[in-house]
Amino acid sequence: MTYSIECMKQEHENISRMLEVIRQACIGILELSPVDVGDFRDMVDFIRNYADKHHHGKEEKFLFPVMVQKLGRVADNLVTHGMLVEHDLGRDHAMSLATALDEYEKNPKTEYKLDILTEAMGYARLLKRHVEKENNVVYTFAENQLTPEDLADIDAKSRKFEEEEGAKGVQDHYLGILERLEKKYL
Ligand SMILES: [Fe+2]
Ligand SMILES: [Fe+2]
Repeated sequence: MTYSIECMKQEHENISRMLEVIRQACIGILELSPVDVGDFRDMVDFIRNYADKHHHGKEEKFLFPVMVQKLGRVADNLVTHGMLVEHDLGRDHAMSLATALDEYEKNPKTEYKLDILTEAMGYARLLKRHVEKENNVVYTFAENQLTPEDLADIDAKSRKFEEEEGAKGVQDHYLGILERLEKKYL
């Protein structure tokens, strides 16, 4: 496995751990635990900055453009009409979840609690299937079909990006949030 695919698959595992936290936090709400708005804001922060900016960022900047450019129609369908559309749907869930949290904080009505559950679980379900498709289809296709030169180029860009993000403490920060929430909800 190449460096970047291994790195992104590891991130998928971390994202999947957060999806389980989200699921358990939603079950807690259904079982009448109070909504911890701060915890849900941390989930939104993780979704936006780790799953989206950090992880989808590498896919969108380094991997997907090369696939679309070099691998023809199949890659275009998989990426442009598949993965990128799903990234956008995830952003929409994150935005609607943030709005539902704002509304609930101002006015803790059942209606807004329902919106929190809907958007959080909508995101969790979307991302679970998205991760499976990338692990089993998209990444495998890229590794099998791209040239060693293209794969090496993607690796070099990913390594540089990981180092820059590491120097800012991004990965450690979001893994810290994940571990705190796992201790509380799992
Ligand atoms: Fe993706
Ligand atoms: Fe991904």
